[in-house]
Order: sequence, then structure tokens, then C-alpha cells
Amino acid sequence: MEVKTIAVIGAGTMGRGIAYASALAGYRTVLEDISEARLEQAVAWIEKAFDEGVSRGKVDPVDRLAAMKHLTTASKVENAIREAELIIEAVPEEMEMKLELFTIFDKFAKAGAIFSSNTSSLSITEISEVTVYRERCIGMHFFNPVPKMKLIELIKAPQTSDETIATCREVGRRMNKDVVVVKDSPGFITSRVSALISNEAFALLETDIASARDIDKALRLGLNHPMGPLELADLVGLDVCFKVLEYLHQTLGEKYKPSPLLQTYVEEGRLGRKSGRGVYDYPQQEILSHMK
Ligand SMILES: NC(=O)c1ccc[n+]([C@@H]2O[C@H](COP(=O)([O-])OP(=O)(O)OC[C@H]3O[C@@H](n4cnc5c(N)ncnc54)[C@H](O)[C@@H]3O)[C@@H](O)[C@H]2O)c1
Repeated sequence: MEVKTIAVIGAGTMGRGIAYASALAGYRTVLEDISEARLEQAVAWIEKAFDEGVSRGKVDPVDRLAAMKHLTTASKVENAIREAELIIEAVPEEMEMKLELFTIFDKFAKAGAIFSSNTSSLSITEISEVTVYRERCIGMHFFNPVPKMKLIELIKAPQTSDETIATCREVGRRMNKDVVVVKDSPGFITSRVSALISNEAFALLETDIASARDIDKALRLGLNHPMGPLELADLVGLDVCFKVLEYLHQTLGEKYKPSPLLQTYVEEGRLGRKSGRGVYDYPQQEILSHMK
């Protein structure tokens, strides 16, 4: 089925970025969130991201105008998905929330629509079990910040059809992203590897083997990572990192047990950039530009 309209459910860090990429690729894009305030912030963020794209010469002003025309918002999921051939769910990393939404997709989506989740780690097989047409369920794992990051991991559950993969591959191509295909397994490729790296970085910090700045510097300059693992954890959100590690610990074993320091930070509300404090402190200005 040709994709003309994409519905993005959840307008947080990821949903707004996915809506940006979708509208820029020429898809009619409907962005939905249960929070009206979140939705307004998301549209402002998308406009600002387009402004930055134009000023850096990455986005043609004509494409920016067309993209903003393609973008609409909805405040009810049933309305958002009605016309969509592809639905991308980007609500928090809670299995219950995802199951609830996929049940709604199953009831109200257009016949033949593909249902995808942007989950960082959860089982697509389990999510798809609440739907009738499991061959049209897939994981589409985008990366933060979506406008800049080139990869989409496509997660293939046992029943995901080749046609569904081909359609999502084409959507990725039009969004100017590269795609890898992974069999459904906890954390896929990227979250599984990066969870171990960041957990190890927290273990180094906790045992006072090096400072946070030196741990990050060592991985940037010595291992050629574009960002240090602690900076990256602050960008992703320490709560998100913690949830991913907890899930990998339950499903893959002891080596993924979340570092006690990471747990303490999350319990203290040190969630990273979005809360103004994580491993590092962030001035008010930076928090606003991250959220808006
Ligand atoms: N943050 C990252 O770097 C990152 C990277 C890749 C994947 N992910 C995954 O993407 C998903 C979203 O993460 P995020 O960081 O964007 O979360 P977020 O908390 O920034 O945003 C989630 C949004 O979903 C909304 N929401 C909650 N319940 C909803 C519902 N029933 N219907 C509609 N909207 C609802 C919230 O109001 C919020 O705006 C998670 O599964 C996460 O694991 C996150």
C-alpha cells in the first residue's frame, strides 16, 4: 500500500522529530498527543527546527513551506489515525500504554494500515499480539534528535510481512534516513549495545575511577564516539535509560542490571537535560530549547 498520510502518536521528544521528518518528506502528517500543551510545544519546536534547517542551508525554504502545510494536529487518537496508511506510536516506554494504543489502532485505523512503534527496547511481538493483522506490525526505531540522526532500525517480529518491511524501508528512504532490519529481540541492536556502554560509564563514575567529564572525553577522543555516554544519557533522559536497562535486565540477564547511581539519579528527579539536571547541570535556556 502506498503511504500518503502518516499519523504520529505522542508529541514528545521523539514524536515531534518524527513528525518533522514525515512532513519534510512530503507525507500528510497528523501529530497527536493527550496533552494540548505538549502538542503546542511540539508545533513550535517543529517550526523552529525548520528555521534552523533553512538557516543552515539544509532545508529549502520552499520545502519548509510545503512541510508546514502538510502538518496538522489532533487531540484524539481515533481522529488522528483515520486517514493514515502508516501509524507511528511514540508514547512513553510503558508496555501497557503501547498495548492500549495498538488496540485502538486495530479498531479505528484504515484497512491495510501499518502499525509501528518507536519503542527503544520493548517486544514488537508482544505489542502486536493485541492486533488482528500482525503482519502489518513493525518497530520503527528513530534516533534523537530525529532531524539530524540518519538511522531507522526496522524491527521485524516473526509475523511482520516482507511487504510491511518494504513499505517502511521506502518511507525511511523518503525521509532521507538509512535503514537496518533487526529481528525482534530486547533492545534490538542499538539500545542493547548503548545500554551496556552507558551502564559501564555510570559504574566508573560511581566508583570514582574518573570524573564524568573525563569519562565522556575518553570515549569521544579515544574511541571516536561523537558524544560521551554520560552526555548521551542526559540527552536521551536518565529515566528512559533506566527503563531500558531494567527491561534488558529482566529479559537478557544480570549484565544489564542498572547501575545504582543511575537509579539514585532517577529517584532524585535528575532526568537529564529535560529536567535541568542529570549527570550534568543545564542552564534554563538549554532546557527550554530542548523542550520547545
Ligand atoms: N528519548 C529518546 O532519545 C528516544 C530515542 C528513541 C526511542 N525512544 C522511544 O520513543 C518513545 C517516546 O519517547 P520520548 O522520549 O519521545 O517520550 P516523551 O516523554 O518525551 O514523550 C511522550 C509523549 O507521549 C504523550 N502521551 C502519553 N500517553 C499518550 C497517549 N495515550 N496518547 C497520545 N500521547 C500520549 C505524552 O504527553 C508525551 O508528550 C519511547 O518508547 C522511547 O523509548 C526515545
